[in-house]
This record gives sequence, C-alpha cells and structure tokens, in this order.
Amino acid sequence: MIRHRLFVSFLIFLVSHLCLALPVQDVSHSEMPFRLTVTPEFVSRHTTNNMTLRCERNLSVQTKMVEISRIRILKQSASGWDLIAEKRDNVDFPTVTRAAVASANISGDITNVFLQATWDNIENDSFGVFTCYAMGFDVKAYPVTESSAEIDVHETQSLVAHAGGLSNATHSKLEDLVKWNSAEISELKRNLNRVNIFLDSLTQWPGGYYALLQPKTGCPVDLAFFGGTHKFHKIHTESQSSSDKSDIYSSVFSSKTLSSQGNNNFFNLEFCEVTRQFNKSNWPQGSFCIHKVHHYSCPSGFTDGRVYIDTENIDFSGDARNNVADTVHDPYFYFCCQDGGPASEPIQLPTSSPFLLYRYGGECQSIQGMSVSEEFIQINTELYRNDDSVYVTHPDVDRPGSVIKFHLCYYK
Ligand SMILES: *[C@@H]1O[C@H](CO)[C@@H](O)[C@H](O)[C@H]1NC(C)=O
Ligand SMILES: *[C@@H]1O[C@H](CO)[C@@H](O)[C@H](O)[C@H]1NC(C)=O
Ligand SMILES: *[C@@H]1O[C@H](CO)[C@@H](O)[C@H](O)[C@H]1NC(C)=O
Ligand SMILES: *[C@@H]1O[C@H](CO)[C@@H](O)[C@H](O)[C@H]1NC(C)=O
Ligand SMILES: *[C@@H]1O[C@H](CO)[C@@H](O)[C@H](O)[C@H]1NC(C)=O
Ligand SMILES: *[C@@H]1O[C@H](CO)[C@@H](O)[C@H](O)[C@H]1NC(C)=O
Repeated sequence: MIRHRLFVSFLIFLVSHLCLALPVQDVSHSEMPFRLTVTPEFVSRHTTNNMTLRCERNLSVQTKMVEISRIRILKQSASGWDLIAEKRDNVDFPTVTRAAVASANISGDITNVFLQATWDNIENDSFGVFTCYAMGFDVKAYPVTESSAEIDVHETQSLVAHAGGLSNATHSKLEDLVKWNSAEISELKRNLNRVNIFLDSLTQWPGGYYALLQPKTGCPVDLAFFGGTHKFHKIHTESQSSSDKSDIYSSVFSSKTLSSQGNNNFFNLEFCEVTRQFNKSNWPQGSFCIHKVHHYSCPSGFTDGRVYIDTENIDFSGDARNNVADTVHDPYFYFCCQDGGPASEPIQLPTSSPFLLYRYGGECQSIQGMSVSEEFIQINTELYRNDDSVYVTHPDVDRPGSVIKFHLCYYK
C-alpha cells in the first residue's frame, strides 16, 4: 500500500520536509517546487512488475531555480538519509546505489528536468520514505536547494483496505468478508476498480471450499481468500529433549514458523482459507493436494484423506483457529487430493501470486507460467508411544520415527 505520510483523505497529503545539512538551503516555501511520484500507485511484490520513483518539477509551485547542477533521490534510514540515485550536470549518466536503474535529464529547460529510479524486482529496499532534492542556481547565480515532499511507499497488504470510498457499514464488516452480501461485494469491486487494482485477477481461483498452506509471501491476492480471521495452527511439538532438532522448514516459510517458550517448542502453520465463492470453475486435473475445510466436501475431482499428528503430551499449550484440523491437541489434518494425470503435464492455475500446494505422487505438479521448487515442513512429534498416522489419500509425507515431513511445492 502506498500512502502519503500524512493524509487527510485518500488523495490529499500534507507536505513536510526534513532539513538536510546542505551548504545553502532554500526550503522557505511551504510548498515544494519538486514532486516525487511513484508508479504504479499500488505496489505489491506479487503483482507489480516494476516500480518507478520519478522526481521532477511540480509546475503548480514556483521555483527560484533557473539552472540545475545536481538532483538526488534519497531514502530515509536509521542514520538519516541514504542516497538512492543522483544525476550531476558534469557526468553523463546518473548513478544509483541500489538494485534500481536510473535515468535522468537535468539539462535544458528546468520544467523538463527529471531523475527517476526503477526497480525491476520489488523488494524490501523498494519500500520506505523517499524524498528528492535539487541543487542549482537562481537568476543571480546564488546557490539554491529545493526539494519535493516526502512520500512513504508501503507494500499493498490488503486490497480491501485500498478500496476507499466504501460505506461505513461495508467497511465495518471488512474483517469478515464471508458475511458480505452481493451488494457489498459489488460495492467493493466498484471501488477497487476505481483505483484500478488488478480487478480481473481478483476472482481467478477455482471453485469449492478449501485451504492452502501459507508461505511467507502471504495468501494469493484473490477475493476467495479475503476476509475472515487469521487462520493458524500452533502445534506443540515434542519438547522434552532439547537435543532433538527435528522441527525444520524450508525458506519459503516465515521465520515465525518455529517458536519456543521455555522448554516448549511450537510449529506455527498459517492457512489461506476460502471464505466465499466468487468463481465456480472446476479445478484442473493434476496430481497435488490441498487442505479440506470442515463442513464442505472436497471440490469436485478430489478425494479426501487425513493425517494424524501426535503432538506433545506434557503440559500441552498449543493453540489453533482454523477449519482444516479437528482439534488443537493431536489433530487430524484433512486433505483433498487429485490423482488426475501426470504431474509433468502443465495445468492452469492463477499465476498472479505465489502459492503452495502439497506434493502428491512423488513429483510436483507443473503449472503453466510458474516456476516450481520443492519445499517441506518437518514436525517433531510425540516421542512417547508415537501415534502419527495417515489415512486414505494424503499428501506425500515421510515418517522417519516420531517425525512427520510434508512435501510441498512452491509456485512463483
Ligand atoms: C504540486 O503542488 C501542489 C500545490 O502545492 C500540490 O497540491 C500537489 O500535491 C503537488 N503535487 C505533487 C505530486 O507533489
Ligand atoms: C514495467 O512493467 C510494465 C507492466 O507492468 C511494463 O509495461 C513496462 O515496460 C515495465 N517497465 C520497465 C522499465 O521495465
Ligand atoms: C535533455 O532535454 C533537453 C530538452 O529539455 C534535450 O534538448 C536534450 O536532448 C535532452 N538530453 C538527453 C540526453 O536526452
Ligand atoms: C523484509 O522486511 C520484513 C519486514 O520488515 C522482514 O521481516 C524481512 O526479513 C525482510 N526481508 C529481507 C530479505 O530483508
Ligand atoms: C463513517 O465513519 C467515520 C469514522 O469512523 C465517521 O467520521 C463518519 O461520520 C461516518 N459516516 C457515516 C455516514 O456514518
Ligand atoms: C474463474 O476462474 C477461471 C480460471 O482461472 C477464469 O478463467 C475465469 O475468468 C474466472 N471467472 C471469473 C468470473 O472471474
């Protein structure tokens, strides 16, 4: 999400500036003669190909400057401001200090000067508070420094939060999209459309009720996964033997996946549960598994099964809120699996956000337009009379002793 640091409404922002230790300042205007803008307006790591910050004259504010010698884009850091990009009049090309590319032209008519930095890969570095400074001379050849306002570039976290203009009644129900009626959904879509948020890609996940395991990149950006409360299962894993390091996971999972309190270890799983039907299309045929959710049958084409996880017996203190397991302690996790064709034959699923499927049949299903990597979670289960078990159709798991290792496939 991108928001100007201070805002009165969605579109109005107040300018503010920090004084940089520069030889000569002229920031006496409360209005800034330069403007720094970001394109596109809403940036998300999953849906945005590239992001550009562009500094140029704000033609609705007067400038004293008649000639520019240097222009800079800066980013706020713990120690002050870091240089991102700079163009000097005596150097042919702009310099950049980050994983961005820059272009600039500061010669000629001052109304046309610009410096811009483009990130081809949106990453942490692309987010933060940015500003732009221009140094040059006024008509008497006195040095002048002018700036833009600061802008705060955030990642779009929730499309719903950006809809703006939603009625209060609709807005107060944001937490629970599952209860929205169709008039409210239309209102949401209309408002998302108004701010031009990838509307076409919002209802692409196939029909039925199901859940996906959530990677650290979050849930797919699709209305099917919006709303409802945060779904998780905090599995209390075998905690009595501190030497046992069997709780492990691959890097697509959040670093919060493992936690401990005193001698107790926890494996924290998060889920993206379908809360509402927006698209009734059938799942393509392939070989993979997804989570089954309570009170609904698997989507058509899937068969169900389950995996029993024998969690810690002593001083159990796990926690859970989800519809994919039956209990907090010693849960059964329910699954829907498809054995509908060779995994090597690509199927179509939405490609606009990364996601995880469970592996089934020894090989990751290939998906058109996505690269795939093998991932895993390995849960250290109860050592004493271990009861882990699997029933009927279930994802690929290894069970070397009191450990369950789930094989997953990550698509991006
Ligand atoms: C340009 O200046 C006007 C007048 O101060 C201001 O309202 C507007 O927001 C500025 N534009 C940008 C992109 O900073
Ligand atoms: C940025 O991405 C858009 C599509 O989202 C593409 O049309 C444009 O060419 C890209 N620009 C650069 C500089 O890569
Ligand atoms: C920079 O812009 C000026 C016009 O403002 C133009 O004459 C000049 O060719 C441009 N320089 C480059 C390198 O594009
Ligand atoms: C990106 O930022 C988030 C939140 O500040 C942090 O948790 C994460 O470790 C960062 N990732 C990288 C690769 O620096
Ligand atoms: C909507 O909510 C805002 C803040 O919660 C309040 O200021 C405003 O008066 C409300 N509008 C209506 C029409 O109830
Ligand atoms: C439903 O999903 C399919 C497959 O992704 C897509 O082709 C179709 O456009 C979607 N329908 C709607 C109404 O979004």
